[in-house]
Amino acid sequence: MSAVLQESPNQAPLVSLRDLNKHYGDFAAVDNINLDIREGEFLTFLGSSGSGKSTTLSMLAGFETPSSGEILVDGKSLINVPPHKRDIGMVFQRYSLFPHLNVRDNIAFPLTIRKQDPAEIARRVDAMLKLVQLEAFAHRRPAQLSGGQQQRVAIARALVYEPRILLMDEPLGALDKKLREDLQDELRHLHRRLGLTIVYVTHDQEEAMRLSQRIAIFSHGRIVGLGSGYDLYQNPPNAFVASFLGNSNFLRARAQDSHCAVFENQPLAIRQTAGLCGGQEVVLMIRPEKATLLSPQEAEANPLPPGCNEIAAVVEEMVFLGESLTCSVVTAGGSRMTLKALSGSAATPQTGSPVRVRWHAKESCVYSQWNESDLLKGAGSH
Ligand SMILES: Nc1ncnc2c1ncn2[C@@H]1O[C@H](COP(=O)(O)OP(=O)(O)OP(=O)(O)O)[C@@H](O)[C@H]1O
Ligand SMILES: [Mg+2]
Repeated sequence: MSAVLQESPNQAPLVSLRDLNKHYGDFAAVDNINLDIREGEFLTFLGSSGSGKSTTLSMLAGFETPSSGEILVDGKSLINVPPHKRDIGMVFQRYSLFPHLNVRDNIAFPLTIRKQDPAEIARRVDAMLKLVQLEAFAHRRPAQLSGGQQQRVAIARALVYEPRILLMDEPLGALDKKLREDLQDELRHLHRRLGLTIVYVTHDQEEAMRLSQRIAIFSHGRIVGLGSGYDLYQNPPNAFVASFLGNSNFLRARAQDSHCAVFENQPLAIRQTAGLCGGQEVVLMIRPEKATLLSPQEAEANPLPPGCNEIAAVVEEMVFLGESLTCSVVTAGGSRMTLKALSGSAATPQTGSPVRVRWHAKESCVYSQWNESDLLKGAGSH
């Protein structure tokens, strides 16, 4: 029942995707995905449009056939099992309710087609109406409901036959922000109460962070990052994930050895990184809130703590955002950084004034491979 994950590495996965591919002609919509999903977990596929999230979900649901690879549930192949026999419920972005049926009959539909006993159907539908708090709306048709209410009907209909796994493809995408946040909270509670395994698709990173225990980051049909939102944000496995999830500053440098790099002719301490060769080009990634801004006077009065770096820059722009403010600075060599501070925490530097930027080496990530477009996407995208 509990949604708390058993972190035991020996726990057998509930679902395993093995070397999963989906090709349309010579285009790989899903490109060799390997993924284990644990029983009771809330896992989210996060990625930009066209990255293969829905295609992967559709293969799991049985609406698309893989070009190659395996889908295992409890170690047994699902490939030849039709969708309605997979013990998987699905909720789509468009609620796809039957317009001519009222709420009660919409929710009952999966049980009616399975020819279950009418008394049992009534009992289960009542339980679902209660779960999604729509008892008072049981006799309304979908057109007489708000978007959020319709989506709750769709969720109830997916849950009524008690599937082991619930797949949701952008289920809240069509709703406005406030309603989306309310339903996110409801979904989290539902997941906790029912102990379901949920695979959720979104391209909204805040939604992914809010809901999931683990996030799989999709790019070009592949999973390029997998972990908790916290880990993916704090320690992105590559420059793409760093640029995709949250904001980041990328500084181009040249490694001297495994713990030092030269940036604009200045040596910087870097996090000990195995396998770096002297002379190798690297990028250092620093989150905007991980660096602090000091005036030259403050920097002089506060000696640099061990393991910290300091670079000189000039303020280009300050933007006040309510609880925080962002400050864009540029170095003598033309590198730009954006820093974030809580508003009111320090004297606000003026545009054009010289500043010092400090960060601890352990707060920066080092990448020896990156893609130009990732860096452009990450730098200054605030
Ligand atoms: N039937 C099809 N024929 C050809 N290409 C397809 C087909 N279905 C999907 N694709 C392509 O496969 C890629 C992945 O599509 P998919 O729907 O999985 O993306 P997605 O990550 O869900 O995107 P979105 O966030 O826009 O929903 C896209 O480039 C899409 O154009
Ligand atoms: Mg999609």
